[in-house]
Amino acid sequence: MTDESLKHDLARDFYSVWHPCTPRRDQETTPPLLIDRGEGVYLIDREGRRYMDVISSWWVNLFGHNHPRLNAALTRQLEKVAHVMFAGITHRPAIDLAEKLLSLAPPNLSRVYFSDNGSTSVEVALKMSLQYWRQTGRAEKNGFFHLTGGYHGETLGALSVCGLEMFRAPFEGVLMENRAVRGPDCYSCPFGLSPESCQAECFGPMERALEEEGGRTAGVIVEPLVQGAAGMKMYPPVYLKKLQEAAAHAEVHTIYDEVAVGFGRTGSLFVAGTHGLQPTFLCLSKGITSGYLPLGATLAGESIFEAFDGDFAARKFFIHSHSYAANPLATAVACETLALLTENDFLARLQPKIDAIGGYRPLFEQFKWCGEFRQTGMIAAVELVRDRTTREPFDRARRAGYAVYQEGLKRGLFMRPLGDVVYFLPPLVISPGEIKTMMETARTCIAEALGQ
Ligand SMILES: Cc1ncc(COP(=O)(O)O)c(C=O)c1O
Repeated sequence: MTDESLKHDLARDFYSVWHPCTPRRDQETTPPLLIDRGEGVYLIDREGRRYMDVISSWWVNLFGHNHPRLNAALTRQLEKVAHVMFAGITHRPAIDLAEKLLSLAPPNLSRVYFSDNGSTSVEVALKMSLQYWRQTGRAEKNGFFHLTGGYHGETLGALSVCGLEMFRAPFEGVLMENRAVRGPDCYSCPFGLSPESCQAECFGPMERALEEEGGRTAGVIVEPLVQGAAGMKMYPPVYLKKLQEAAAHAEVHTIYDEVAVGFGRTGSLFVAGTHGLQPTFLCLSKGITSGYLPLGATLAGESIFEAFDGDFAARKFFIHSHSYAANPLATAVACETLALLTENDFLARLQPKIDAIGGYRPLFEQFKWCGEFRQTGMIAAVELVRDRTTREPFDRARRAGYAVYQEGLKRGLFMRPLGDVVYFLPPLVISPGEIKTMMETARTCIAEALGQ
């Protein structure tokens, strides 16, 4: 490919495409990578330059790009039918996937409702929860609790349970009124505890909220263990255990948004099901197709499903649909993704990789700009700060994280930090050698961007 052709296509992109979460001015100085193909954990641009996909292309890719078995599953389905609507029609891949998901999810979940992305999987849970309470004579339960720092997608419903000011601010005033409850903040624990000594002393605000307003609240939504968009903020499972008990006592649904952490990212398939955690709803997407096609799934239990039973005139059924819900190609590739995840002890064999990533903690912690190195399973993050003793953040205008991103591009890493949090969320198939390259190169990038 000639240089001219590349420039021409980037110019065409610049004048016709509107990219997500990208200030136009950034695009002028740092044009998007023009990716031609993918190979394992690498993305390859039109000039043959290779970039390690450190963040799994927005946290979706589990098995690397261009995976032969996922390609084959897709092709097999493509030769049969690419798309059908999902009301009045069903198909084998959707049935297989629903059964498989249920066999892997906690036993209280018995139904799968398909949609087509992460935000819609959340919208479905919120609407099901609201409609459930209305149909069971508790219409006063019409709001949600969400955690400060929580993120659940960009559609207006999902945004109304988002605890991040940056995403909400342009739409304040029109979002559904829900209550943000101060959640865990292990980075600056107000009780001075470490994750090892913690008994979720920070659960107090949620406990009080449930006691005071549980009667008027439909559900509480959380990102279990890792608040992704907040900057990969992590907290221990004891918080979720307390939440489970208190929410059950207050008769409030628990909604686990595992869109980001599901499918092995934390080291187990789902957080739900570990530590005896049994949410009322489980929202899934992203890794479900290992980054091949959009798909969402919301899992619920039989008591929820039963509340939607009634004849047509009663209009009790769930009136919500997406044209591409349960798309046959997406569900077929999701079945193959689950096969790969569950065979040959795949998840157990992640442990050495998790340890290898954790082994780089000292390399990052020895530098003055490292406020914290944190890790949950295959997710790790480095909080960049101006002064690590005081944890004073960098001035926002400094754009420390963005400077690291630009260094990464020069050195073959595609990182995209979240503000000043550089994080690692690679495809699960990353090899030990690739982990070494990822961590050592990232460290060099940070040192180059911010100084030793
Ligand atoms: C926890 C969580 N929920 C929901 C979403 C929304 O998913 P989607 O971008 O597919 O709409 C995201 C996306 O990053 C997420 O991290």
